[in-house]
Order: sequence, then C-alpha cells, then structure tokens
Amino acid sequence: MSSALNSIEAHYAQQDLEAAVLAALRDAGKDPDHLRPEDLAPIDEFHICGRKATLELASRISLDGSMQLLDVGSGLGGASRCLAQEFGCRVTGLDLTREYCRVSGMLAKRLGLDSRVSYRHGDALEMPFEDAAFDVLWTQHASMNISNKTRLYSEMWRVLKPGGVVAIYDILAGTGGVVHFPVPWAREPSISFLDTPQQLRKTLEGVGFEIQSWQDTTDKGRLWFRGMGEKIHKQAPSSIGLHLLLGPEFRTMAQNQVRNLEEKRIALIETVVKRPSM
Ligand SMILES: C[S@@+](CC[C@H](N)C(=O)[O-])C[C@H]1O[C@@H](n2cnc3c(N)ncnc32)[C@H](O)[C@@H]1O
Repeated sequence: MSSALNSIEAHYAQQDLEAAVLAALRDAGKDPDHLRPEDLAPIDEFHICGRKATLELASRISLDGSMQLLDVGSGLGGASRCLAQEFGCRVTGLDLTREYCRVSGMLAKRLGLDSRVSYRHGDALEMPFEDAAFDVLWTQHASMNISNKTRLYSEMWRVLKPGGVVAIYDILAGTGGVVHFPVPWAREPSISFLDTPQQLRKTLEGVGFEIQSWQDTTDKGRLWFRGMGEKIHKQAPSSIGLHLLLGPEFRTMAQNQVRNLEEKRIALIETVVKRPSM
C-alpha cells in the first residue's frame, strides 16, 4: 500500500476497536448480545446528519430486495446495515481501514444481518470487483480523502451495471476559504482533498454520468452540527460515540466542523447520478 494510503488508514484506525466498542456499549447500558441498530447509531453513521441523511439519500433512489449495492468507503457499516434492513438489498461495504471492515463484520453478525451484508478491505481507486457487478453504488463522506476524483468515479462507473445509479453524499470545498484542521476526515491538510461542487459536477459528467438529482444540503448540515457541537461542548462525551474512532481530538474536530460550516469553508452535496444504459 502507498504511504498516502497508509496515512489515511492511520488517521482512522484505532487499536482494539472491537473491544472498545463492546465495552462502551456495556457502559451505556446496552447488551452487546442483544443489540438493536439504534444502539449503534452514535458511532456507525460517520457523516453529518447521521442516519437521517442515509434515509434521505435512500429516498432519492429505488431500492429493493433483488439489488446488489456497493457502499464505497463504508466505515463502520451503519449505512450498509440500515439499507439491508430497511430495503432487504444485499450490501457490500468496501473500506481502506482494515479494522473498520473487521468491526463492521462483527456488528453485522451481532445484528443478525451477516447474510445480507459483507465487508471487503480495499482501495476505492482499485476496487476488487468485476465490471458491472452492482446495481447501485453508494458513498457518503469518503471522497474527501481521495485526490484522484476522476479515477474514483471511473472505478464506480466500471463496477456499476449500465442503467444503474450512484448515490453520493459528500463534503466539498465551500467559498469561505481553507478548512480549519483537525477535522473528522483529516488531522492535517496532506490527506484532505476537497473539490468544489462545480468541479464535482464536471468530473461526474466527464466520466459519462447523467446527473439525476442535485441538492445542496449545507444549511441542513449546519443546523444539525450546530446542535451537536453545542452538546459536545457542554457535556462530557457519552461512552458510545465518534470519540471511539477519532480519539481525544474528536471534540476539537467537531468544533472545527461547526466553524467550517458556519464560515462556508465546506459545503454538503447530495446527488444521484446515472450510468446510461448503453
Ligand atoms: C468519514 S468516514 C465515512 C464512513 C461511512 N461512509 C459513513 O458515512 O459512516 C470515511 C471512510 O472512507 C474510507 N476511505 C478513505 N479513503 C478510501 C479509499 N481510497 N478507499 C476506500 N475507503 C476509503 C475511510 O477508511 C473511512 O472509513
């Protein structure tokens, strides 16, 4: 693996994450042997607006139990399990952070979803899948760590069936200047690559995708994160939360996220694009 990829994995990886998650669940009064998806919500939907954003993006596409879906940069797998549970589809999660793939598999098993979801360790720029293997592609808050966007969306095109769609929810560059670091996806600028919304559109169309829907959800994210930031500022962190993934810097990262949104240094875009059928 290249040193750039190692740095990204090092940013996310935490030692003994499985043990830490199980201990935090017990501390929060949850029974790890009888978990419900909502018990994991504070940790496994690692994007602005959490599960609400996942359900909103899902509402923009048609999903059913016959579909094979790929979640690119699946993190701890919250979206993959949510989509498998809500729509019955089969979901593969691909992620660069080996520990996340391992813990995602463990959580899926504990929720009885392991027949419908599975996780692969790998790089979104060299996906370990055949051409046209999936009906739908899905990605949330992963492209910020990827500099070669043309390669990323070309790989998505390759593994998607003609006529299939890609559902994207991403953090992009705003108009307010450079980002305040650390942020949840990077402790410093060398692993952060934000395109503007205009650049994203151009790259997607350049690869051949047709834009089906395009929403700027920055204001929604600002409101949601403002509430989160205030809560985090006032309260000691609860035992189960993103600090388990990001360590003690999580508070500063969350506060910077609020500032970056307030000062328009980042923007949020939700878009669905289609690979035309031939
Ligand atoms: C902020 S987390 C979001 C995780 C998940 N999509 C979610 O919303 O809960 C970003 C994820 O992207 C993954 N990632 C970053 N670069 C990647 C790459 N080149 N290939 C695959 N995954 C990548 C990271 O390992 C991390 O799990």
